[in-house]
Amino acid sequence: MALQSERHGEDTQAPVLTAKNVVRRFGGVAAVNDVSFDVRRGEILGLIGPNGAGKTTMFDLLAGSVPPTSGEILLNGTVVSGEPAHRRIGRGLGRTFQIPRPFPNLTLIENVMLAAQGQAGERLFANFLMPWRVAAEEKTFEQKAMDLLDLVSLTRLAHEPARVLSGGQRKLLELARVMMADPAIILLDEPAAGVNATLLEVIIDRIRDINARGITFLLIEHNIDMVTRLCHRVLVMASGELLCEGTADEVARDPRVIEAYLGGAA
Ligand SMILES: Nc1ncnc2c1ncn2[C@@H]1O[C@H](COP(=O)(O)OP(=O)(O)OP(=O)(O)O)[C@@H](O)[C@H]1O
Ligand SMILES: [Mg+2]
Repeated sequence: MALQSERHGEDTQAPVLTAKNVVRRFGGVAAVNDVSFDVRRGEILGLIGPNGAGKTTMFDLLAGSVPPTSGEILLNGTVVSGEPAHRRIGRGLGRTFQIPRPFPNLTLIENVMLAAQGQAGERLFANFLMPWRVAAEEKTFEQKAMDLLDLVSLTRLAHEPARVLSGGQRKLLELARVMMADPAIILLDEPAAGVNATLLEVIIDRIRDINARGITFLLIEHNIDMVTRLCHRVLVMASGELLCEGTADEVARDPRVIEAYLGGAA
């Protein structure tokens, strides 16, 4: 099977995602201040930092829901900073939200199928021209959605409405939804927040499985145990700036990181 990254990127040596001197101001506050980094192909990169450090804003900038005040974002070597979020999804960038909001009255399978957004409009049009092909495609989508629900251990609940899910199960559903668009890289915003210990193990295993399929991850997380177990490398942000990078153990020992967390708590 071709790696997802090979399908989306021309140059498999180039970083999947790059931030170059990215700045985002809200009024007088620089939520992200001159941040530069690469996400290497195939890695699980962590992004940690105290509350208000600018992590989610960084995700908004990478995904295209917020434009940068200055600086550039590159996806597979192509500058995408001027492109809207849906174009970046088409280029292989998937993202989950700090607070998942599935459609509560739709079933899990419907929620996952809806995530194949790009194809929806084209399907409507094609429906008039080639109804037989659309029906076949629908079946493929449904099979793919079922496979993804299986991948995140939610098969049992496939035909239940999403409102019955616990917080942790919603995180898993998000993962299945984001996979529907065949991403090369997935940005995960706090996948462990509010998740019980048993489900946390499932989420960690699933991220490992998906990463083993060649999909790159950038992971915001406050759960340091999860970061230590999953991440090959970790970036630390504080007050909008990139403080340092290293392995989880290295950054946890870094006096600047300890100071940033203690300063935030004071
Ligand atoms: N839309 C916005 N308008 C104004 N200020 C904003 C906006 N979004 C974020 N901010 C500010 O930018 C800073 C960074 O917020 P952000 O949500 O990126 O932090 P975070 O690192 O994700 O924090 P947490 O760990 O609590 O999720 C904060 O001071 C926040 O108040
Ligand atoms: Mg956040």
